[in-house]
Amino acid sequence: MDKKSFFNEMAASWDERFYTPELKEHLNNHLVPLFHLRPGSRVLDVGGGTGGIIPHLLQAVGPQGCIFSIDFAEKMVEIGKKKFGQEPRVIFKVASVELLPFEDEFFDHVVCYGAFPHFDDRPQALREMKRVLKIQGTLIIAHALSSKEIKTRHKGASPVSQDCLPEEVEMRKLLEENGFHVLQLIDQPKCYVCEILKIY
Ligand SMILES: C[S@@+](CC[C@H](N)C(=O)[O-])C[C@H]1O[C@@H](n2cnc3c(N)ncnc32)[C@H](O)[C@@H]1O
Repeated sequence: MDKKSFFNEMAASWDERFYTPELKEHLNNHLVPLFHLRPGSRVLDVGGGTGGIIPHLLQAVGPQGCIFSIDFAEKMVEIGKKKFGQEPRVIFKVASVELLPFEDEFFDHVVCYGAFPHFDDRPQALREMKRVLKIQGTLIIAHALSSKEIKTRHKGASPVSQDCLPEEVEMRKLLEENGFHVLQLIDQPKCYVCEILKIY
């Protein structure tokens, strides 16, 4: 089975499986504040799935901000659209990270929560996320797990069993080579946050 089919199959049970009250509390009080999203900003949620993190992003950007969410798995997007149909600050699209349907320098922040390990062409994903970011905008790569915990979580779950985050040295190299500057990289139990600035 390919990855898109895998995520499409999981879409219906995704929120119930992963978005426990504990995770929501953790996102709200610990993880999302580390993203340093500016109130009023326009945010792209890449590989956003059913939009589980969106309530937390909305809280961070406030009434003047807005969230665009893209995912290549149509069933994930379908559920997200139903959940946020009444919310004018949220827009969902089916799209792949390798070809983002947005103009250059459109976003203040790009958030990639729980998705980066699954991207097959990382240099192209980084090029596209950088292209749609404003200069001095930030890319946030985050998980509610450490990089070690991600490896354990994905083990045995074909076709994502090999999907993990690069080691810190490799991650920094990949980002710096692609025109980003790493502002912070936290990798500890239940928390991975890499905050990256677009410098040119
Ligand atoms: C582990 S899920 C996380 C979903 C969501 N961010 C969350 O945490 O609830 C990873 C998501 O990335 C999406 N994805 C994987 N590769 C992608 C790609 N190349 N382009 C767009 N979305 C992708 C999958 O369809 C899936 O919904």
